[in-house]
Amino acid sequence: MQATDPGAPPAPPDALVERLFNATTAAMDLFAVYLGDRLGYYRALADGGPATSGELAQRTDTAERYAREWLEQQAVTGILAVENPHAPATERRFRLPAGYEAVLVDPDSPAAMAPMAQIFAGCVKPLPQLLEAFRTGAGVPFEDYGADLAEGQAGTTRPQFRHLLAQEWLPAMPDVHARLEANPPARVADVGMGLGWSSIAIAQAYPNVRVDGFDLDEASVAAARANAEAAGVADRVAFHVRDAGDPDLAGRYDFALAVECIHDMPNPVAVLGAMRRLVGEGGPVLIVDEKVADRFTAPGDEVERYMYDFSILHCLPVGMVEQPSAATGTVMREATMRRYAEEAGFERSRCYRSSTTSSASTA
Ligand SMILES: C[S@@+](CC[C@H](N)C(=O)[O-])C[C@H]1O[C@@H](n2cnc3c(N)ncnc32)[C@H](O)[C@@H]1O
Repeated sequence: MQATDPGAPPAPPDALVERLFNATTAAMDLFAVYLGDRLGYYRALADGGPATSGELAQRTDTAERYAREWLEQQAVTGILAVENPHAPATERRFRLPAGYEAVLVDPDSPAAMAPMAQIFAGCVKPLPQLLEAFRTGAGVPFEDYGADLAEGQAGTTRPQFRHLLAQEWLPAMPDVHARLEANPPARVADVGMGLGWSSIAIAQAYPNVRVDGFDLDEASVAAARANAEAAGVADRVAFHVRDAGDPDLAGRYDFALAVECIHDMPNPVAVLGAMRRLVGEGGPVLIVDEKVADRFTAPGDEVERYMYDFSILHCLPVGMVEQPSAATGTVMREATMRRYAEEAGFERSRCYRSSTTSSASTA
């Protein structure tokens, strides 16, 4: 029997060269998608149909020469189709292939991927601070990641809130679902709600419910208020700039939830303790967080890789801003979550594994 050499690399060096070259073009593709999304190019092609570089520049109020280079890049990389590739450059017409609108334009589509490009751009915004943080052990404040991070994050979870929160996640907790439908109107606390789409989805699905969202980030709270206004639920949904771990956070709620944020917090136990207080003895709390494996495995699968990518670039650094810190990172395993819940005084917890990238536990 041949023993495996524990010092052998996971793949030969040549394969690594190829892999990193492909990763470079893939990363550049994401930044090109970022440009197309933020400049409104995809939207203009979806709404106005195929365009030459001049037409696209006119529709989006951008410079023709840049629009042309981007269109050619998109066609060469295989995202856009070109109808007449042999025509002179300024006469070529480019179009969004059928079905791509769901991926690149529609913010409610479960297939939406443009927010992924935006969150990636946000993750690399504070690279110099990130290098410094790795050297010193300090953190990188959430606000230093800028609007792209917060908007990109909200863009990735918004379709899940729209299609799963009230359709799958809450009905999986029958008592909560029934209480949210009942009278007197239930009160919900949404911790770390970012741009507010979870609160808005709950208010839309349960027309009596009142929601209070608490988030530390002022810019996110301002954007969440505007989103609630535009969605027509601002009379029942209020957003507050608050540290959810603040021992003075008061109120009486029928249900509390925290989506994709416990792993970012320096003191998750204090926040869970606050949520427990808000719902009172035996009250229901839902934590939706990343669906990671139960143990460290290397090499890991795509999901595990994706989670570690976010962890090193964003989640761990934002969680290190306050010291001492639990320093959880994105890869918060179920056992860690259960330990935090126990330390916060919860007596019972249950783990659901949904079909999405999130797992949830109630206490
Ligand atoms: C990754 S984002 C998740 C946003 C939203 N829940 C979602 O799923 O799209 C994490 C959010 O938690 C907020 N946050 C982190 N620590 C917090 C704390 N101690 N109290 C309140 N909000 C906090 C951040 O400001 C940020 O908006």
